[in-house]
Amino acid sequence: MRPTVRIAPSILACDFARLGEEMQRAEAAGADWHHVDVMDGHFVPNLSIGIPVVEAAKAQSRLPLDVHLMIEEPGAWAQRYADAGADILSFHYEAAQSHFEATLEQFLATGCAVGVALNPPCEAEVLRPYLDQLDMVLVMSVHAGFGGQSFMPEVLPKLERLRSWGFRGDLQVDGGLNHETAEPCAEAGANVFVAGTYLYRAKSMTSALAQLRQAASPGWKNGADAESSPRLE
Ligand code: DX5
Ligand code: ZN
Repeated sequence: MRPTVRIAPSILACDFARLGEEMQRAEAAGADWHHVDVMDGHFVPNLSIGIPVVEAAKAQSRLPLDVHLMIEEPGAWAQRYADAGADILSFHYEAAQSHFEATLEQFLATGCAVGVALNPPCEAEVLRPYLDQLDMVLVMSVHAGFGGQSFMPEVLPKLERLRSWGFRGDLQVDGGLNHETAEPCAEAGANVFVAGTYLYRAKSMTSALAQLRQAASPGWKNGADAESSPRLE
């Protein structure tokens, strides 16, 4: 079975003064999830949004909220973001480091679908012992912290490696995606595609999203099938 392709527009690129309308625009354009980038000004050199905005976003949509935490000590915040309305909750391996296993337990205890994010320099190997516990792996295709950066093709082998180990969960790619850069990601095994600038700043989000979905769907060449987390169905 092929993995379900999901397109997740990142609200980081939307007009925050009109958050509800912007999210509805993404839904009308065919979005599957809303991607929500939480940055604390410490783990990454940028500050974005926190719990009150996640709560507000939750109230605006019935689509899953895919919350990407770019924060220090993520385990301490896991339950609060779950309570705020996250459906999928991802934290960075690099932010947990020596207490990764305890942090993962804190996330799994929330009942959300759980993802772990890797910045470009972080090797996939660090997650190999834990893959059967994860609903999603988030492979960053830019250095986390800012929207509008250029896609880094050097992360493509990381996607392939994760699938080659039999990872059947959602494999998300995030950063610099558009109708051209999404295609090699799909070929390498990604099935969840985050895009901020390309979608929210498009002249027509509907046609940009359709093009992205087409680029994301060309073929599943790397053997392993994937299934979305049952918690999201
Ligand atoms: C970057 C964020 C991304 C960002 C993507 O740290 O994790 O989700 O919003 O933005 P674009 O699609 O503009 O690269
Ligand atoms: Zn993100």
